[in-house]
Amino acid sequence: MATTRRTFLAAASAATTAAGAFQETLAMNGGPKAVTYAPARASALSKWPRYGAAEKQVLHDLIDSGRFYQELPAFEKEWQDYTKAPFVKAHMNGTSAITSMYFALDLPPGSEVMVPSYTFFSPCLALRFFGLVPIFIDIDPKTATFDLEDAKRKLTPRTKAVEVMHSWGMPCQMDAISAWAKEKGLILLEDSAHAHGASFHGRKMGTFGEMAIYSYQLSKVMPAIEGGMGMYRSRAHFERASAFGHYEDPVKFAADSPVRAYEGTGFGQKYRMHPLAAAIARIQLRSLDERNGVARKNVAALNGRVTQLAAVAEPKVPGGAERVYYNGNMLLIDFAKLGVSRDTIVKALKAEGVPASFWDYPEQHKLKIYSEAKWWHHAPKIPEKMPGNAWINSNHIFVPCQYGEAPDLIEQYAKAFEKVWAHRKQLAGA
Ligand SMILES: Cc1ncc(COP(=O)(O)O)c(C=O)c1O
Repeated sequence: MATTRRTFLAAASAATTAAGAFQETLAMNGGPKAVTYAPARASALSKWPRYGAAEKQVLHDLIDSGRFYQELPAFEKEWQDYTKAPFVKAHMNGTSAITSMYFALDLPPGSEVMVPSYTFFSPCLALRFFGLVPIFIDIDPKTATFDLEDAKRKLTPRTKAVEVMHSWGMPCQMDAISAWAKEKGLILLEDSAHAHGASFHGRKMGTFGEMAIYSYQLSKVMPAIEGGMGMYRSRAHFERASAFGHYEDPVKFAADSPVRAYEGTGFGQKYRMHPLAAAIARIQLRSLDERNGVARKNVAALNGRVTQLAAVAEPKVPGGAERVYYNGNMLLIDFAKLGVSRDTIVKALKAEGVPASFWDYPEQHKLKIYSEAKWWHHAPKIPEKMPGNAWINSNHIFVPCQYGEAPDLIEQYAKAFEKVWAHRKQLAGA
C-alpha cells in the first residue's frame, strides 16, 4: 500500500503512543494509572439504572391518584406506537411473556423449537410446560448471535419453530433467518430481551417474527425493575397468549375469538405487569433513543481506538442493523492470538482504572435440568459441543458504557488499553 501523508501521520502517531505507553510502568506493577478521571464521576456516567426526578414524581403521583391500572393500557399503547407491532400485551416479566408465547404456539407435544443455548433459562425451559423440545443452536463467534448454519444442520421434520435472541443488543441477521424460516415453514420467534430500540433496516426488533418478547428487568436497556411485553403479528396469537395469564382479557375479545369463553379463568396463570413498573417503563421509554444514541457514540469512540490493537475486535453488526448496548460494551479478544490470558488482561486494565470484567453465559445445554428425562415430555438432545458459545464465553470482556458526554474518560480508557497492549510481551508469562 502506498504511504500517503495521512497513513504516515497515523503510523507515526501510533508509534509515538506505543513508545510512550511502553515507557510507563504498568499500574499493576506500581506505575502511574492511565485513568486519572475522578472515579465518582466515571461511575456516575455508567450508573444503571438511570432513574431521576421524573420516575420519582410519577410514582408519587400514581400513589396519590390511585388510578394504578390505567398505566397498563397506556404503556402498551406507547410501546406499540414505538415498535409498530400489530399487537402487544404487557406481562409481569420477560419469562411470563415467553411462557405465554409458547402456550400461544399451540404445537403438538414433541414438536421441536430451536433456541440458543447461550441465553437465560426461561426461553429454553418454559418449553417444558407444553411438551415442546428445545433444540440448542450455537452462536456465531463473530456476532454472539444465532448461527443459521448450525440451525440448518439441526433441522428435522419435527422442527416447528425457531427462536432467535439479539444478544447484548445486537440484531440477528433477520433477513437471512426470516427467509430460511419461511422456506422451511418454521414459525419465527424473537427474544428481544436485550434489544430495546435496536432495529434492522429501520424495523424494531420483535416485529420480524410471528411473536416476540421483551424484558424490562432492572439490568435491561429499558429497565422497569421487573416487567415484560409480548409482541404478536396475528390476532389469534395475541388473544391466546393474553388469555393464558390474564383472566380478565377474554371478555374484551370479539365474539368469534376461540378464547372468549375463558373469561374469569384464562388458562391458569396470573401474569399482569405491576402498574408501578409500567409507570417507570413509560418514563424510561421517553429517553430510550437518546440513551442508546449517547451509549452508541461513546462505544464507537472507544472501539475506534481499541480495535486497532492486536487481537481485539467488536461483534460484527449486520448490514442495515442499528444495535444497542446491553450490559456494556462487549469486546472480543482472541486471547490465544494475543498470547496473554484474560485474567491478566482484566487485572492489568483494572489496575489502570478501566473497570473491565467478563461474564460467561451459563450454557443451557450443560445444566442439570436438561439432562434429566423425568422433567420432559420428550427429553432434549444435548449437543456435544457448541464452539461458538465456547469461543465467545472465553474471548470477551465488557467495558461499561457511558450515558453522558465523556470524551476525556474515553481517551483515558483508550490510553489504558494501549498501555496494557504495549506491555503484552511482558504480560505473556504473567
Ligand atoms: C435473553 C433473555 N430472555 C429472557 C429473559 C427473561 O426476562 P425476565 O428476567 O424479565 O423474566 C432474560 C432475562 O434476563 C434474558 O436475558
